[in-house]
Amino acid sequence: MTTAENTQDAPQPEAAPAPGMVDIKPRNYEFDLESALAANWHSGDPFKTAFFNALSMMFPVGEKSFMDAVKAFRNKVTDPALQEDVKGFLGQEAIHSREHRKYNERLCALRGYDLDYMEQPIIKRRDWAHANLPVIAQLYATVAYEHYTAIMANGTLSNPKWLEGADPTMKALWRWHAIEETEHKAVAFDVLKLAGGTVKERRMSMLFITVNFIRDTARNINHMLKRDGYSFWQRMKIWRSGLSFLLGKDGILRGMGREWLDYFKADFHPWQHDNRKLLEEVKASVGPEPVLA
Ligand SMILES: [Fe+2]
Ligand SMILES: [Fe+2]
Repeated sequence: MTTAENTQDAPQPEAAPAPGMVDIKPRNYEFDLESALAANWHSGDPFKTAFFNALSMMFPVGEKSFMDAVKAFRNKVTDPALQEDVKGFLGQEAIHSREHRKYNERLCALRGYDLDYMEQPIIKRRDWAHANLPVIAQLYATVAYEHYTAIMANGTLSNPKWLEGADPTMKALWRWHAIEETEHKAVAFDVLKLAGGTVKERRMSMLFITVNFIRDTARNINHMLKRDGYSFWQRMKIWRSGLSFLLGKDGILRGMGREWLDYFKADFHPWQHDNRKLLEEVKASVGPEPVLA
């Protein structure tokens, strides 16, 4: 490995906030989602609802794995500011995992979805990686997924279309998650630098994660629509309108391509997408929040 290939040695932009500069505080929210989850909570629309529900299905197993990956390299962190950030990251992900576990279990009970069917591919891949790859592979995967959550969180907070027409409690849950994903978006990345992460492996792991992320999301959406009773042709029609919601002229994922590609820059750092101002505006708009003691 040459010096230039090492993420640790890559120059960081002056404007990017350093560890400790963004407050990462776990908010101990508990959401009562019972009545919302029984129906198509996003605009009465089967695709929009299934899309967000499909993402939720991946969080409990995924976030537990992110926490384990960061914990495995926690001993490399000697900077007190980054140590505090790691603490905040672990606290936030633990509560996300708890709330999305409740969300997923209630959703599946209410609507007859198969939780095991949707979680098994992720669990199998995680177990295979544990058995066959070095521990740092899990950290690379975490950093790639954290980039996805960061750019999707930015979309949620900056573009009202993401949740326009959604049930207010569901909206609050997704906004809460987006705020915290933004606050801690650089923590796993900063730990990977200390663990000796290389640019080449970081790039390769993003490609691998992208294939799995798209496949898992599509599989979950399709399972839910099938269980909702839609025939093959009805599902095709729903997918067509769904893809236009995601990727059409005004699609919510439009414009995210550049942010995704930035991950492949040798000197990439998550705070090069500096959305602290947006974060502060959104936090001010939601008022006082509960915080873990
Ligand atoms: Fe999270
Ligand atoms: Fe996260």
